[in-house]
Amino acid sequence: MAVSGTGAVFLALIIALLVVIIILLGICWRFLGPGIMRRLLRPRRCPSELPEYFSGNMSGNLRTITYFDYATLKKATRDFHQKNQLGRGGFGPVYLGKLDDGKKVAVKQLSVGKSGQGESEFFVEVNMITSIQHKNLVRLVGCCSEGTQRLLVYEYMKNKSLDKILFGKANIPHRGDGLPFLNWKTRHQIIVGIARGLQYLHEESNLRIVHRDIKASNILLDDKFQPKISDFGLARFFPEDQTYLSTAFAGTLGYTAPEYAIRGELTVKADTYSFGVLVLEIISSMKNTDLTLPNEMQYLPEHAWRLYEQKKVLELVDAKVQAGEGFEEKEVMQVCQIALLCVQPYPDSRPAMSEAVRMLTMKTDQTIPPPLKPAFLDRKNLNRDNKDADTSTMEMMRSPAYWMMTPSPAVDRPYDMSFGK
Ligand SMILES: Nc1ncnc2c1ncn2[C@@H]1O[C@H](COP(=O)(O)OP(=O)(O)OP(=O)(O)O)[C@@H](O)[C@H]1O
Ligand SMILES: [Mg+2]
Repeated sequence: MAVSGTGAVFLALIIALLVVIIILLGICWRFLGPGIMRRLLRPRRCPSELPEYFSGNMSGNLRTITYFDYATLKKATRDFHQKNQLGRGGFGPVYLGKLDDGKKVAVKQLSVGKSGQGESEFFVEVNMITSIQHKNLVRLVGCCSEGTQRLLVYEYMKNKSLDKILFGKANIPHRGDGLPFLNWKTRHQIIVGIARGLQYLHEESNLRIVHRDIKASNILLDDKFQPKISDFGLARFFPEDQTYLSTAFAGTLGYTAPEYAIRGELTVKADTYSFGVLVLEIISSMKNTDLTLPNEMQYLPEHAWRLYEQKKVLELVDAKVQAGEGFEEKEVMQVCQIALLCVQPYPDSRPAMSEAVRMLTMKTDQTIPPPLKPAFLDRKNLNRDNKDADTSTMEMMRSPAYWMMTPSPAVDRPYDMSFGK
């Protein structure tokens, strides 16, 4: 009887304790709000408790990265403050962050949303990205996955992205916005660095990655103006059937190889095409598509080809670069020719990136195969020949995409680029 009495008291105490806990939780929920409460109650995960697929020691991985919790990145970016936003791309916004040890980082908040991929897939992909490493690829410092948040933390690049330097105020001497004007030697160094980064992705890394989105804003520059390709492997985060649309649609379209834009045929040569367009931009400080320019200059590869045919390719070069330090006429002409080889209409005609690197770094007295006409038609002639065409056909022909998808009539067979080997 005495035992059952003690048991009853014990049971009563437990029930009373539970009631008190429930009442306390209710009060906290009422005053702190459900958001904070959920966060407080969520079990904390420390790096040592990370799932096995994020061990950082998977075979083939070259280095480990840090697992950040959301609160750390929130603090580093001052609550993802607008003022800290470095930019926004097709994957989401990027913020400048300062970690507790004073190190600056760029935090990319992926817009994967509720329907986005699961945590394990995210870590597997991060692990894959971590297994490639090259001095011309931007380094992933760490990542975070909490709730629906997926964040990637990169090393911060002091000299921002190439688009800001080429097309921003920095390209107007003495009116810069803190970013310097780039002379020919630096531009050449950037071109060779990007080519080497792509060569690694295509031919040397254990994953063989096609970047798919090579463009000026995806080339970051470190304090010594060494280029670092960013967003490599990022397309892997998006399922094949989910089209990734960049905010700068026209710009991205201007970089896209015709066979990929039209038929979805994706090979490493699609990157080679984008690289060719990007090189023309670096030489000229002009955007690949600029509809404010006179008709014949609106599409950069077309403009470059026309000047090349007329043996006036030096007119393509930014006048300030020509007047600036380290300008070498022969070298610039050679690089223009390599860029035109990269934008050939047929993928097989474009050089592999190792071949592009070889040509970019060889002496200027060596010969380079002549390029054929890139992937477009002469718009003027076509408009003239189609005076009577119906409006919808004319509309289609006016679209930049049309000019990119139409192979040149001058090219009726794939060009065998043996480079005299
Ligand atoms: N590691 C970094 N260091 C410094 N600035 C960065 C870094 N990463 C990105 N940025 C800046 O943030 C901007 C936005 O980058 P983001 O990659 O999101 O967009 P994007 O390159 O314009 O388009 P896309 O989504 O196609 O890559 C870039 O233009 C660049 O200026
Ligand atoms: Mg980018």
